[in-house]
Amino acid sequence: MKKPIHEYKKVAVIGCGFIGYSWGVAFARKGLETWMYNRPSKTLDTVEDRMRGALQFLSKEGVISDEEIDDALGNVHITDDLSAAVNGADYIQECLWEDLALKQDIFKTLTDMTDENVPIGSSCSGLRITDIAGKVANHPERCIVAHPTNPPHLIPFMEISGDNASQEVKDSVFDFFEQVVGQKPIQCKEVYGYVLNRLQLSLVQEALYLVQEDICNVEAVERALTEGLGLRWAFTGPFGVEELNSPNLFEGLDKYKDYMIEFFTKEQKKVYDYDKDFIKKCVDGFAPLMDGKSHEEYLLWRDQMVTRTRRLKED
Ligand SMILES: NC(=O)c1ccc[n+]([C@@H]2O[C@H](COP(=O)([O-])OP(=O)(O)OC[C@H]3O[C@@H](n4cnc5c(N)ncnc54)[C@H](O)[C@@H]3O)[C@@H](O)[C@H]2O)c1
Repeated sequence: MKKPIHEYKKVAVIGCGFIGYSWGVAFARKGLETWMYNRPSKTLDTVEDRMRGALQFLSKEGVISDEEIDDALGNVHITDDLSAAVNGADYIQECLWEDLALKQDIFKTLTDMTDENVPIGSSCSGLRITDIAGKVANHPERCIVAHPTNPPHLIPFMEISGDNASQEVKDSVFDFFEQVVGQKPIQCKEVYGYVLNRLQLSLVQEALYLVQEDICNVEAVERALTEGLGLRWAFTGPFGVEELNSPNLFEGLDKYKDYMIEFFTKEQKKVYDYDKDFIKKCVDGFAPLMDGKSHEEYLLWRDQMVTRTRRLKED
């Protein structure tokens, strides 16, 4: 039976790195009892500060009030005791390193420790959940991919997948993320890279090719995306773009077919390899675009722009 969303009250986040801490912020600010587990480490020692910093950022940007910072942090429990984290949890989000053996091990442990009706989502970016959890003894059908876009407390798109998982579990977790956490999930079949990374990798591949062949420089690629495609893509995807580039989508796709086949079969080539000199060429070409900002300043600027664009979309 599909688990109703009002049954999601306590969540456990397993691994408090980049993705784990950010999931923790997304859960805690929505009033969920949020247990953050990591083995003893600097990551564990600093996770509260990082979560507070992210909440302060949201408050500064006007997304939440100052009081909501304390409310959210009041929902957070930080621990290196796995059983305390998962005991009574209604949902578990695994965020350990992308390592098959490590994930297999933690899924075996988590499924042994928890009730069969507790869904367990993996943040994994490329591994197949059937390889990770297909052989766990205790109800593998509740193990799914719940792949975020980094950082999930700012970017809502996520992918739910798992060919061995039950449709009830996938639907229930989908509703939980959409209606309780405020994400924008999709469901897809279990293919390498799911949807977002497949789209992104096609584009990165072409970007590398254009620079490798000296067709244009790094700045030109960045400009094409940030001043061209990206401005449309925050609002209309490829189908929406084609609807507007033609009298309508039908005619657009019909016309596009000949050009696209010509391009893909004859013109577009793949980058199969590159060396350190090429990486250096990309780094040198990109450096001026950071406009003197450090990595951290560039990250903060990106987060501000993403948050403001989201507000514009929501308005
Ligand atoms: N970083 C991204 O952009 C991104 C985006 C989407 C999905 N993901 C996926 O999210 C997952 C986590 O990635 P990340 O970038 O947060 O990694 P990370 O290295 O920042 O964090 C991993 C955490 O796992 C902890 N850990 C490792 N082994 C452990 C163990 N045995 N017991 C307890 N804790 C352990 C580490 O201490 C660390 O805190 C990966 O599967 C990754 O592919 C990452």
